[in-house]
Formats: sequence, C-alpha cells, structure tokens
Amino acid sequence: MKRRLLTGGTVLLVLSQFMLSTTGFGHGDVQPQAVDTEGLEVLPEEIAMENPYRVMGGEQYELARTIGASAYISNCARCHGLEAISGGIAPDLRMLEDGEFGDEWFMERVRKGYTQNGAYKMPPFENILNQEAMWAIRSYTETQPRPE
Ligand code: HEC
Repeated sequence: MKRRLLTGGTVLLVLSQFMLSTTGFGHGDVQPQAVDTEGLEVLPEEIAMENPYRVMGGEQYELARTIGASAYISNCARCHGLEAISGGIAPDLRMLEDGEFGDEWFMERVRKGYTQNGAYKMPPFENILNQEAMWAIRSYTETQPRPE
C-alpha cells in the first residue's frame, strides 16, 4: 500500500516529516534554511519587479524550479502546505496570479513577512534568503498545478 503510493508528493511528505522529527522542532518553530542557489544567474541588488528566471526561460527557469522546490519545503511548506497546497494555516500559493497578487506582491510578503497584532504570522525572509532563492521559490509555486 505505502509502496504503491510513493509519488513525488509522498516522498516530500516523508522527507519533511523526517526533518521535523530529527530536528526536534515542533510545527511552529522549524529554523529557516539558507538556500544554495549555485547555477542560477546572479541578480542585481535591486529587487526585480518580475520573476527574472521566468523571463529568461529555458534552463534557468528549470533550475530555478528545482532549487525552489527544496527551498520551499525547508522554509515555507510548514505553513503553506506541501506542494504549495495549503492546509489552511496560510494561503494557497498556487492561487497567486499575475496582476494584483503577482510577482510584486509575492516579493513584498516574502521579504517583509506579515504581522498581526504585533506578532509575526509569517516571518520576514529578507535576511535569510537571497533574491535568487526567493524567485526560485516563486518559480516553483507558480508552476505547481492549480486547483480546478
Ligand atoms: C510561520 C508560518 C509561515 C511561513 C513559514 C511562511 N508563511 Fe507565507 N504566509 C503566512 C501567513 C499566515 C500568510 C497570510 C498573511 C496575509 O494575510 O497576507 C502568508 C502569506 C504569504 C503570501 C501572500 C499570499 C496571498 O495570497 O496574499 C506569500 C506570497 C507567502 N506567504 C509566501 C511565503 C513563502 C515563499 C514562504 C517561504 C519562504 C512563506 N510564505 C513562509 C505564514 C507563513
């Protein structure tokens, strides 16, 4: 039964559960992880307005998606859900479309986080992830299948 169901999603699930159990952190306080973005084109200091790897396309976009997938698992999945399918704690990132909830909104939230009544509901990532890693995560979430 387990074996038959070993799809990509299951592997990720097992992996993240393993990480949670081995680090000893509970659901809410997994340490954010720096991300190795080697191979991705280095971006200028200024924050881009549009996902540069989508604009480049081809291999850069592919690599961004791969790096983004693991960066997402270690930094975002505990709140936003595996494969970017929200379990309800935080928004489903597959729903972020171009336009109002597009690239700029994504970067704003990821860099600054989100506070409510003075408490962080989402931590700011601007000192944890570089711009390359953030766009890599964007590349991953924006190419996950959207709900029907
Ligand atoms: C501790 C939990 C937590 C973590 C970790 C977290 N987020 Fe969030 N995130 C939230 C919550 C809660 C919101 C909803 C805030 C709001 O109402 O805009 C949110 C909102 C967002 C939004 C805006 C979504 C929308 O529909 O407006 C984006 C984009 C986002 N997060 C990206 C990320 C990314 C990328 C990561 C990993 C690098 C991440 N988040 C990590 C809790 C989290």
